[in-house]
Amino acid sequence: MRNNTTSLSSKLLSEFDRFLKINSHQETIPSIALPRYIKNNYKPSSQDLSNTKGLMRINHTGEVCAQALYYGQALFAKNKSTYDYLTQAADEEHDHLCWCYERITDFETYTSILNPFWYASSFVMGATAALLGDKISYGFVIEIEKQVENHLQEHIDQIPQEDTKTHAILAQMKADEIRHGQNARDAGGVEFPDSIKAVMTAMSKVMKFLVYRL
Ligand SMILES: [Fe+2]
Ligand SMILES: [Fe+2]
Repeated sequence: MRNNTTSLSSKLLSEFDRFLKINSHQETIPSIALPRYIKNNYKPSSQDLSNTKGLMRINHTGEVCAQALYYGQALFAKNKSTYDYLTQAADEEHDHLCWCYERITDFETYTSILNPFWYASSFVMGATAALLGDKISYGFVIEIEKQVENHLQEHIDQIPQEDTKTHAILAQMKADEIRHGQNARDAGGVEFPDSIKAVMTAMSKVMKFLVYRL
């Protein structure tokens, strides 16, 4: 079991601090540099640019949610190994967040105004999953990462190949998410029933629909 010496109120305060920093873009420096890509003179059509902006807004919000989920889960992880797994994965999600933010800045577009809401709701979901036990918590990671992998592939299919910088980011993110899911499976995560998967898929569709636009 984890040796908890910090009070819950202190932990919640530091999580609130993280919420503020992430939602006000105070932490935008990744620990790992942007994935390498071949530079070119690609100029997207206005239609492609508009679509890519919306898709990268979704990916940025997805990483905001990933931060919140993993730290919500870490807050109530039962075992140190689970806590270590979650916080290490959260560090990688933070790199993803920074990479997506850089691309959003390149495109001179905006991040979703709904991010604070998605962060708060994801944090509560992550914490709730963790309270149900580490195997459920890992199961939650398995299903979330599978859904993220699927939507990343959809974006990879839609964004023009000439946009090498965006493709490099999405390809590395996809590889990392697959590894996060596999590690959670190896750690004994349970497979969720189809009904819960369907609810999670529906929530993710609502998020993507709104964030693409807002
Ligand atoms: Fe990620
Ligand atoms: Fe992940």
